[in-house]
Amino acid sequence: MQIKKVGVLGCGLMGAGIAQVSAQAGFTTVVKEVEQQFLDKGMARIEGILGKDVAKGKLSADDRDAAMSRLRGTTSFADLADCDLIIEAIVENMDAKREVFSALDALCPEHTIFASNTSSLTIVEMAAVTKRPDRFAGLHFFNPVPVMKLVEIVRAITTSDATVATLREFSAAVGKTAIEARDTTGFIVNRLLVPYLLDAVRVLESGVATRDDIDEGMKLGCGHPMGPLALLDFVGIDTTYFIANIMFDEFREPRFAPPPLLRRMMLAGHLGRKSGRGFYEYSA
Ligand code: 3HC
Repeated sequence: MQIKKVGVLGCGLMGAGIAQVSAQAGFTTVVKEVEQQFLDKGMARIEGILGKDVAKGKLSADDRDAAMSRLRGTTSFADLADCDLIIEAIVENMDAKREVFSALDALCPEHTIFASNTSSLTIVEMAAVTKRPDRFAGLHFFNPVPVMKLVEIVRAITTSDATVATLREFSAAVGKTAIEARDTTGFIVNRLLVPYLLDAVRVLESGVATRDDIDEGMKLGCGHPMGPLALLDFVGIDTTYFIANIMFDEFREPRFAPPPLLRRMMLAGHLGRKSGRGFYEYSA
């Protein structure tokens, strides 16, 4: 199936990034937010990133303008009705996701493929509220979306081969390398990454080493672009806490259980970069 028009639900950090790479790849792209103020913020983020790329000489002003002309924001579901692919990147809440997919299922033509960018929720639980469980999959991007080269295609037990093939083509078109995982909490990357991040907190908690030495260790010893504690701030303390709890619920293994310090940081509002303070402090 050929994808021409892409709908993106949510214009936060992930939704804006997905909408940006989709428009830049030549797809007519509509991004929906619940409120105009969130849409304005997300669209301004995209314009800012493309503007920086133009200033750096990475992108021509013509290509920036062409990408922006393919991208439209909306607060109305009706504007997504003729999309060939819809990628959901709203809040990580199963009820909210089921509600939007159920509404879209009634609105979109039969051929439209639905995908969720969820990092940890179960894909088939969303697919089950639609009449298209075979045209439903996970499409998990990484932050920052324009930079990170990977996308995980998540195959639910109901997902068809044709849907996976179309999502592979779309992933390549937006410049990403696709890997495929079954619909098991954490998929591939978070299954490995989250226990590592939680262990870094445990190493800090138990006094083995300082914050800076833990991060320096993994940067210089293993060549990671960021140390685990800086990465926790980047991903978000609350987001990681949420994912860890879902993984713990699914697997019942202690290594997925969030360490006490993570919970206390969340309760204190030390959520990482987004709140100005996490393991590190950030100026506005
Ligand atoms: N959007 C677009 N471009 C961005 C960006 C953003 N938010 N942040 C950085 N960039 C670009 C910069 O403009 C720069 O481009 P240039 O090379 O053309 O000048 C390039 O990325 C490098 O940025 P910086 O020089 O500012 O800084 P760094 O070299 O430290 O790179 C980083 C920043 C790309 C974030 C790098 O530190 C990194 O790769 N960190 C690890 C990120 C990571 O692991 N992400 C995955 C998180 S897990 C996840 O998303 C899954 C979820 O389910 C939890």
